[in-house]
Parts: sequence; structure tokens; C-alpha cells
Amino acid sequence: MKDWTGNNNSVFKTLGSSAHAVEDRETYDFYATEPKALIELLKLEKFNSNIWECACGAGHLSEVLKNAGYNVRSSDIIDRGYSQELKDFLSIDVLEWDGDIITNPPYKYSEDFVRKALQIIPEGNKIALFMGIQFVEGKKRKYLFREAPPQTIYVSSSRLNCAKNGDFSKYSENSARCYAWYIWQKGYCGETILKWFN
Ligand SMILES: C[S@@+](CC[C@H](N)C(=O)[O-])C[C@H]1O[C@@H](n2cnc3c(N)ncnc32)[C@H](O)[C@@H]1O
Repeated sequence: MKDWTGNNNSVFKTLGSSAHAVEDRETYDFYATEPKALIELLKLEKFNSNIWECACGAGHLSEVLKNAGYNVRSSDIIDRGYSQELKDFLSIDVLEWDGDIITNPPYKYSEDFVRKALQIIPEGNKIALFMGIQFVEGKKRKYLFREAPPQTIYVSSSRLNCAKNGDFSKYSENSARCYAWYIWQKGYCGETILKWFN
């Protein structure tokens, strides 16, 4: 398996020690995020020194955070050779995580990840989720946005890639999807600010 740059040996290489079959991994929606997405966000947004990457995949975002000096907790429901903990984030029963949460969640459960993350962080802390721009629409989702509006949505001005099973070698510069970082600060109930990055 190749890393996000298309090379065979880098820090982002999937170590491949999972007990799960390839089909399982795909079922759980593993699309690795191009690290540049987070490198650019960190230039614009300040976070708590403790960050939980709660669907860390092969660590593409966790490694960016570590390199930037954050204390990073990394977990995933599937062992992709990177996570410190195997955890179903949606089933956890923790009172609170004393830090911020940053991830690219599984598409199908994006809204559940938002709600869960908001439940467990302290007032004033942040969550940053990397998701498609389509997340802003949807009849059901309007209730989420009313209850808990994101503070800021950063839309990527240039296309970024998310690679199925972490294989960036198949992707060109022209990704078909537009992605954005959605930032919630727990307790914020003002207007959502739209900004651009990258
Ligand atoms: C879109 S991938 C993103 C991986 C990583 N965050 C990144 O940006 O490179 C989603 C990840 O969520 C994990 N996942 C799916 N359901 C989960 C759950 N309920 N709890 C924790 N992780 C989950 C998948 O195994 C997969 O690694």
C-alpha cells in the first residue's frame, strides 16, 4: 500500500497489522485525509493542547497534530496499525474529554460524530471535522444547525483528496469533491461564519 504522496516508505504508511479483512476496513469507511488539509487549518485556528483523533484511521491527521506539538490521543473502531485504542466512538460512555476533538469522521455517521463529540467536551472547547461541503444541506441536519451552529466553516479553495484505504497513488490533483473544515465551539449560538482556506 502506498502512502499519501504515492511513496512506499513514509511515516504515513499503513502498517497493516489489522485483524480485520479488507472488506471490513472498507465497510467502516476508511478514506485517509490528505495531511495538507490539517496543516492549512492549523495556520488559521487555535486548539487546546490535548486533542482526540477519535476515528484516526492510519494516522494521517494524528501525525500532523503531533508534528505541530499537540498531545494526541488516537483511536479507531478498526485496527489499521496506528491507533492506541480500539474504540467505537459512538458507543463510548465517557463523561467528558478534557480537550478538543479533530477528525474526518465516517461519512455515514457524520452527524452522530458531531453530536457525540459535543456531548463529551467541556463548554468552550472545540471540535473540527473534515467533511464534504454537502454536509451543510439536508432536512434533518437543519435541526443540528439550529441547536448547535458551527462557529466557522472553512471551505477549501483548492481541491483536497481523501484516499480510499489510504492509497493516495490513485488520486490526481483534481479531486472531484469539495471539502470543508467544520468548527464547533461548544456553547456557541451565534451566526456561522464562512471562511476559506488552502
Ligand atoms: C473517513 S476515515 C478517516 C480516517 C482519519 N480520520 C483520516 O482523516 O485520515 C473514517 C475512519 O473512521 C473509522 N470509524 C468508523 N466508524 C467508527 C466508529 N464508530 N468509531 C470510531 N471510528 C470509526 C473508520 O475505521 C475509518 O478509519
